[in-house]
Order: sequence, then C-alpha cells, then structure tokens
Amino acid sequence: MGSIQENKPHVVCMPVPLQGHINPMLKLAKILHSKGFLITFINTEFNHQRLIQSRGAEAVLGLPSFRFETVPDGLPTPENTNATQDIPSLAKSLDETCLGPFKSVVAKVSGSCAPVTCIVADVLMCFTLDAAEELNIPEILLWTSGAGSLVCYNQYPNLLEKKLMPLKDPNYLSNGYLDTIIDCIPTMPGIRLKDLPPFIRIIYPGDEYMVQFLCSQVKRAKRASAIIFNTFDELERDVLDSFASMYPPCFGVGPLHLLENNIVEKSLVSIKSNLWKEEPECLKWLDSQPPSSVIYVNFGSIAVMTLEQLVEFCWGLAKSKYSFLWIIRPDLVVGDSAMLPPEFVTETCDRGRLVGWCPQEEVLNHPSIGGFLTHSGWNSTLESISSGVPMICWPFFADQQTNCWWSCNKWGVGMEIDNDVKRDEVSKLVIELMEGEKGKEIRKNAKDLKNKAEEACTSHVGSSMANLEKLVQLMHTLSK
Ligand code: UDX
Repeated sequence: MGSIQENKPHVVCMPVPLQGHINPMLKLAKILHSKGFLITFINTEFNHQRLIQSRGAEAVLGLPSFRFETVPDGLPTPENTNATQDIPSLAKSLDETCLGPFKSVVAKVSGSCAPVTCIVADVLMCFTLDAAEELNIPEILLWTSGAGSLVCYNQYPNLLEKKLMPLKDPNYLSNGYLDTIIDCIPTMPGIRLKDLPPFIRIIYPGDEYMVQFLCSQVKRAKRASAIIFNTFDELERDVLDSFASMYPPCFGVGPLHLLENNIVEKSLVSIKSNLWKEEPECLKWLDSQPPSSVIYVNFGSIAVMTLEQLVEFCWGLAKSKYSFLWIIRPDLVVGDSAMLPPEFVTETCDRGRLVGWCPQEEVLNHPSIGGFLTHSGWNSTLESISSGVPMICWPFFADQQTNCWWSCNKWGVGMEIDNDVKRDEVSKLVIELMEGEKGKEIRKNAKDLKNKAEEACTSHVGSSMANLEKLVQLMHTLSK
C-alpha cells in the first residue's frame, strides 16, 4: 500500500448493472479520480465478463488508483443472458442479494487499498445506504436520468390520490385516456398521462413491483448526503430548484461526457464500459457522406420491438430516401432475430449502413449526421443535445416518455413518433427533420442547447464545472 494512496480519499462507485447507468457512473468515477480521489468501481460478475468479452481484459484492468471489483447480481446464469431486458427481475435480485457482497467488497478494499471515505451509488441501488450507515461511511447518490423523471416518481402518491392512476384495465391504453393533460406535476404543466413513466400505470398482475421499487428508492434517496444529476442547470433549473426542500443538496454536473472530455487525464480515457462490441468502421463510412445528410437510428441497450415495428421502420427509412446508419442490436426484436426484409436491404444497400453497436458519442459528433431517430434514453438525449443534433423520438419505456416530452415540448429539439409506428409517419418525419421548416427550427434549438451544454462544462465559469467543485468540497468535508 503506497503512502500517497493512503492519504487520498477513497470512493467506492456502485452503478446499476445496465449500460445506460454504467456509462454515466464510470464517467463520474473518472472525473472524481481526476480530482484526486482513489476509485473502486464495482461491476456485477456477469457484466465484468461481458466487458472483457467486448473490450478485452484491459477494459477492467484499471490503474493502482482506479480499480475494478465485482459482486454477483443474484440472477442465475440462464436468466443472466437476458439480464438487460427483464428489469423487474434484475431490480428485485439486486435489492435482495447485493447488500452482503457489497459490504464485503467495501471492507476488503478498505483494508487492501485505503479506508473508504465515501460511497457513490446509483439512486436505484439504495440498499447501499444500509451498508453506508452500518459502516459509518457517507454516501452520495447519482440519478442517471433527467431530473424531470425523478419528479414523476415523487408524484406517484399524488396521482393515486387523484385517482388518475392506476389504469383500470388494458383498454385504457387505447381509449384516449392517456392523452389526458394533468396539472398536478410541478414544473411540468401541460404534460399528459402518456408522458409519465409507464412503470406507474399498473395494469397487469405483477406490475406493482416496479413502481413500489422505484418509489421506495426515490424516498430512501433522502437519506443520502447529496444527489448528483447528469444534467446541467440551464437545462433543468426549475426542476432542480424544486428539489431544494425535498432532498439533500443536489448537484447538476452534466453532461458528464463533456466534463469527462474536458478534465479526465489520457490514461483513463481508454477505460470504457461498452457491454457490446463496438464496430468503429461505421465512422469511416460516415466520413464518405456529405455534411448533415445521414439519419442515425439507435434504440439504446434495452428497448425491444416487434418484427412488425421493425418492418415499419425499415420501409419508413427506405421511403424517405435519406441515407441512414442504423444500429441493430442482436436482441432488438422480441423473441426473434432481427430479420430485415431482404428487399429493403437490397433497395437501401447504397445508402444504408447496418451495425450491431457503435461508438455513439463519436457518431453523434460526426459532421455527416443530420438527425437522430432515438428511443429517448436519457444518455442518448443528452448526447444528442450536446452534439446539436435534432431528434425524432420513439420512447419505449421507463423515463423515455418523459424525456421525449421534454425534448419535444419544452426544449423544442425533437418530434415524436406515435407508439403504433407506421412507415408513412416515419418517412414524413425523417423528411421534415432533414429539410422541413420544423426541422430547421428544432435544429437551431439543438445548436443553442449544445452551446449551453458546452458552456456549462467550461472551466471556472460553467455551472456544471462550478457544481463539481462544490461537490468535491462536500466530499472532502464528509471524509474528515
Ligand atoms: C437505460 C434506459 O433505457 C434509459 O431510459 C435511461 O435513461 C438510462 O438507462 P438505454 O436504454 O441503454 O438506457 O439508453 P441510453 O440512456 O440512451 O443509454 C445508452 C448508452 O449506450 C449511451 O451512453 C450511448 O452512447 C451508448 N451506446 C448505445 C453506444 O455507445 N453505442 C450504441 O450503439 C448504443
């Protein structure tokens, strides 16, 4: 144990073991490392193996001052092959099985590296608060989604009281009820029931688990010493301000990928967290395309669609006549392999590129990208905004409906596709995005927000940079 390391504060980082949660936690960990903290980053054993498979052993090698450890996720191996999609099982399993192994890891690294002075965990891993309290270590939480979606979960009891939820039966999904505009969600006037996270609808037996889990986590989060958000003040100021009386101090330090680019040292940049193998060759293909000419299509790491929906997207893209880069994960289609219509592949082979997984931040920053057809995951939304790329939004679940509402209605950087996707609507929106008046308007708004995001992450003057300094100060004070 080196003496320099003994004197450094030591942070244990515990993400939810899903791509969209590991990415922001890893970025935060690297940023904290740059600020002088020792880091122990905990993956689940299953994801640790996936990282090695997709990126090679160096993905989890780390440095003496930035180490990786593992805990089991509790899922038996066969279920694990599907672990990214059965979210309720994963949540249940983590909540029930991780506390003991987590405490053991904290004790182990406290002895072998340096005493742990702070735990930084995902809000959805609140079992870590029990460990922190028992071990007398301060804990700070990271909310990896937009601050707006946290408001929705907080308001769930209010929706129940007003009898707006739960839905009485599946017919409520199609009878127009979800178009009801509600006025009881603070900071979001005009939002419709359909824009709230679908977890809170509760229609089928078994649906209750997820909403109870989420509501209990956001309530338990009040026990933390602070909450970190991957957002920036200029984007969600009203929402962040509304937490002042409800939560411990909140810090918007995003977009984390911009902050990472600005302050993380080179030796750490190569530590990445892709659970799928990247195909960077698509960047070369983008190099050959004219500026702002390509529509980028990616539905993130969890969304799944039916074969019918896949086919509608295919023919919608074909009909638009625009070039596209479409990321089709092997498990994108429910219970099936993503079989594309052969005629579609033949018809679009000169202007379409199909890839399994890409370096998304680089793709979005490529000058040939003109628009993003997205599922509105929070990371994708922030990455698109930070690149000044306007969006077409097809939200799938979780916070995505709420992110879509913010993108389309509050920030004016997106256009929504109906959930019951049809090829004509896809092609119409792609053409509108790439060459129409509405497309011009949302492109301009996206560029304005890009500038604001960049300013937020600029030294000294930027809000996220300033919030990071305050956070680091707090972490030092808590460590004493
Ligand atoms: C999940 C939830 O679905 C999302 O709603 C929540 O906000 C975060 O957790 P996911 O669906 O994977 O995330 O979407 P997203 O939030 O967009 O995160 C995906 C991440 O993977 C992004 O950082 C993106 O850059 C990266 N990615 C995705 C790649 O690097 N390459 C790809 O091909 C696809």
